[in-house]
Amino acid sequence: MRSLPEPIIPGQPLTALAPMQDVTDLAFMKVIAHYGAPDYFFTEFFRVHAQSRPEKHILKSIDENKTTRPVFAQLIGEDTEHMVRSALDILKHPAAGIDLNLGCPAPKVYKKNVGGGLLREPERIANIIRCLRDAIPGLFTVKMRLGFNDESPMQRVVDIVNENKVNLLTVHGRTVKGGYRSEVNYDSIAELVKRAHCPVLANGDITSAAKAVKVIAHTQAAGVMIGRHAIRNPWIFKQCREVFAGKTPEPVTLRQVDDYIKRLFDATRNIDFPELAHVNKMKKYLNFVGQSVDATGAFLYDMRRVTTEKELTHVCEKHLLSRASDIFSIEPYPGIIARPNCETPDSDGCSLDSITA
Ligand SMILES: Cc1cc2nc3c(=O)[nH]c(=O)nc-3n(C[C@H](O)[C@H](O)[C@H](O)COP(=O)(O)O)c2cc1C
Repeated sequence: MRSLPEPIIPGQPLTALAPMQDVTDLAFMKVIAHYGAPDYFFTEFFRVHAQSRPEKHILKSIDENKTTRPVFAQLIGEDTEHMVRSALDILKHPAAGIDLNLGCPAPKVYKKNVGGGLLREPERIANIIRCLRDAIPGLFTVKMRLGFNDESPMQRVVDIVNENKVNLLTVHGRTVKGGYRSEVNYDSIAELVKRAHCPVLANGDITSAAKAVKVIAHTQAAGVMIGRHAIRNPWIFKQCREVFAGKTPEPVTLRQVDDYIKRLFDATRNIDFPELAHVNKMKKYLNFVGQSVDATGAFLYDMRRVTTEKELTHVCEKHLLSRASDIFSIEPYPGIIARPNCETPDSDGCSLDSITA
């Protein structure tokens, strides 16, 4: 069986940046790598159907990735012929492997019976995984939620993963109905870790390196996958490596956070984007960053009202540079919410637009 790429520090638990639509593009991966890359990257999902061709902007995050860390390409779909065709097309690019999405909770996705929708029909999952496994010569990974309405399918899905010698499994410890804010069930992740024959990444609300250590100890997972808290705190993967090694990470100052915001602004700049669109895109990332800037939400309040780069710079001066040596909170401040509204019935739960709008 093909083995997984070595982590940055051999012998340490694995870390991975979660796939996030509209977030984990080439620019974001580059910025994350600047502050400390994860062991593995995953692309946002390639949507697969009869007419689909691998999206060029997602391929860019594989082809032009200079981070030196492996990038797994995620697919979402249900038609086995086209899933196999897409996987083989993508494998002409330097992807580390193919990942199957069994978790997206967006109604417009699951209503088409893809992503999390497939968890209602484990035997269809068996067919898709079998076909992909037969076709993929290298690494094949799966990312699942625990179930759709409840956790009843989770054991069967892991048995399918085992039968098909999947190389790595990520478990987001919520059901599809649980959206992004229900309690993460780390006990269920632990149960699936025991059942799985392959390494498992625990996913869901890993807010800090300390939480990663706690969750790994509780679940015995091979590592963690981190999504929203890497947007908030791009130092998190480096901090994980330090804490795994028994060291205490240096605190991050608000001046460093200002540097992160400037770097992200420059990296995501697109000459075809009007200023307002670019500022609005930045505001979506900053909704997460703001959870650790101050306990009152004052940065978030002002940030949500900016419409120009100049205004954004002013807000950063007021809330970050004016107290540049203050510490950026390792955990999000309680009650400061990134305005996720992904549980609303008509929202697209797999896009920054819905999560932070
Ligand atoms: C903006 C956004 C986009 C997402 N897009 C995807 C996606 O394309 N594929 C996927 O498997 N999960 C996607 N997810 C789910 C994340 O990968 C992850 O499972 C979830 O956010 C829980 O982890 P966290 O608590 O570390 O954020 C997305 C989540 C967010 C917040």
